[in-house]
Amino acid sequence: MRLATLTSGGDCPGLNAVIRAIVRTASNEFGDTVVGYEDGWVGLMEDRRRDLYDDATIDRILLRGGTILGTGRLHPDKFKAGLETIKSNLEDSGVDALIAIGGEGTLKGAKWLADNGVPVIGVPKTIDNDVNATDYTFGFDTAVSVATDAIDRLHTTAESHNRILIVEVMGRHVGWIALHAGMAGGAHYTVIPEVPFDVADICKAMERRFQMGEKYGIICVAEGALPKEGTMNFGEGEEDEFGHKTFNGIGQVIGDEIKTRTGYDVRTTVLGHIQRGGTPTAYDRVLATRYGVSAARAAHEGLSNKCVALRGEDIKLVDLADAVDELKTVPIHRYENAQALFG
Ligand code: F6P
Repeated sequence: MRLATLTSGGDCPGLNAVIRAIVRTASNEFGDTVVGYEDGWVGLMEDRRRDLYDDATIDRILLRGGTILGTGRLHPDKFKAGLETIKSNLEDSGVDALIAIGGEGTLKGAKWLADNGVPVIGVPKTIDNDVNATDYTFGFDTAVSVATDAIDRLHTTAESHNRILIVEVMGRHVGWIALHAGMAGGAHYTVIPEVPFDVADICKAMERRFQMGEKYGIICVAEGALPKEGTMNFGEGEEDEFGHKTFNGIGQVIGDEIKTRTGYDVRTTVLGHIQRGGTPTAYDRVLATRYGVSAARAAHEGLSNKCVALRGEDIKLVDLADAVDELKTVPIHRYENAQALFG
């Protein structure tokens, strides 16, 4: 058999671990060959591909961040218009099944392809951890570790300068990174997209800290956080060419507002793509590898329209439909746990 794979959407640590596991499992267990398409769906449409061999080069990519295949984004309309090209490119290359590694957008594309007769298995990735069918996506643990390390460092400088330091982390629609990094790093307030915030509450929490003798504060803000209506001026971002929301620097805006309202010395740090780069944590390497092994086996067995997913301790195969029906947001009880520690 001949399998194909591609990585699509924003990169994340662990993509190479999945590719390695697919190639090694396909070769070791079944003698199957694997072809990799470059730059996600775009490379598949343009037939840019390379054979991936179970050799020393593939073996060593386990530790490497990013993706050796490159990644890209494609507007859903352009993708759908390319169905016949995609089908004929796969056929010309003798591909029996495709393994698409990506986040919610990629998995929607994978489902659409499978619905249109292309055998596809999905592998959920994103640092945001917002894919519904799985308990965790790989990349999330690495992003949380990076953000937690940053918060640890901010504590000492904030304390030395009697400052409030804001750290803005990624999280377009969901606050998983902010919630976990904020909790692990002992942030004194965390703001997530799922729960619109009132800056007056943040100021109150900081004032309480200072009244109790503390002289600094750390606030962890997800980039997609929004104020409660009528509480603060904030212009929402536009949409980019792929239909994704863009951001207007909510961390800086909250920082400016706190400074104006309280007079405290405030600075903002935006972590940005640092959270997505670099080597994956051990947890993400293991999760990504387990996904890759299961995806290769499922593709070889001739399954389609399925997605590998972590359920408790086990890797399961779920319907792609379940992975893309809605985003996995932070449940309110998880945020309330964090709130118990604010101030
Ligand atoms: O979806 C993953 C993610 O890292 C989001 O957290 C973030 O908003 C977005 O990608 C950034 O995308 P780009 O790399 O295109 O700026």
